[in-house]
Amino acid sequence: MNLPKTILQIKEYLISVGFPEVLDAAVILGSGLGGFGSEIETPKTISYADIPGLPQSTVTGHSGALIVGKIAEKTVLAFSGRFHFYEGYGFDKTIIPVQLAKAFNAEKLIISNAAGGINLDFRVGDLMIIDNIIRQNKMLAPASPHRWDYSLYSYADSTARIAKKAGITTKRGSYLYVTGPNYETKAEIHAFRKLGGDAVGMSTAPELMEAARLNLKTVAISLITNAAAGVTDQKLDHAEVKEAAELKKEEFATLVKQLIIEL
Ligand code: HPA
Repeated sequence: MNLPKTILQIKEYLISVGFPEVLDAAVILGSGLGGFGSEIETPKTISYADIPGLPQSTVTGHSGALIVGKIAEKTVLAFSGRFHFYEGYGFDKTIIPVQLAKAFNAEKLIISNAAGGINLDFRVGDLMIIDNIIRQNKMLAPASPHRWDYSLYSYADSTARIAKKAGITTKRGSYLYVTGPNYETKAEIHAFRKLGGDAVGMSTAPELMEAARLNLKTVAISLITNAAAGVTDQKLDHAEVKEAAELKKEEFATLVKQLIIEL
């Protein structure tokens, strides 16, 4: 399976504290979306700080905990908090949640994030199914030199279908990955729009690449939490991101639940 030894050690540790040996699904929760954890039935929660070998999550809006339990009879593991390159973690750390999902033989992985809307048709609160990735700087090759044939299109179709059936409107588009930590300039967003970016954010791309390498069935969804720089006159800050996430949390939870059941 080609996973680092540290990942297998973390898995062993989690099993030793009562985690199941196999998962149906894993979910990575983006900024402000950690509330999904409370949807999990019979939850068992463990803080990242208590897991040997796991880095700590340092961003406000990410609680830094693993929650395992059930959603509609499925065994689900949620990562409330992820590891960003801008926090000083190497790409090998940013992909730990994906590798753990694989180590537990999760059948599917659902990745979420908060992102800025570049596409002028997008509004705060929109959910965008990521169907491709643009990297701001391709030299920053996340994770590994492996080919990444990232079969998102097929799952993007089924995700859109499942959302529609659940009465949830979604957008689709390309996620433009920046390493952060600063927000972009107005001129950068202008350039990113010309490149074909629909939403911009500081996570997910390394995770998607690793998921592709590991052959994990994966979908990724961006919650548009703000208009990207220069789209409106509003100043960008992290509070806005959390506010938008709070407004959309129920719809987001419904979509993730349906994906866990139907994808
Ligand atoms: N830019 C980058 N990352 C983000 C943004 C943004 O506007 N919003 C949420 N994450």
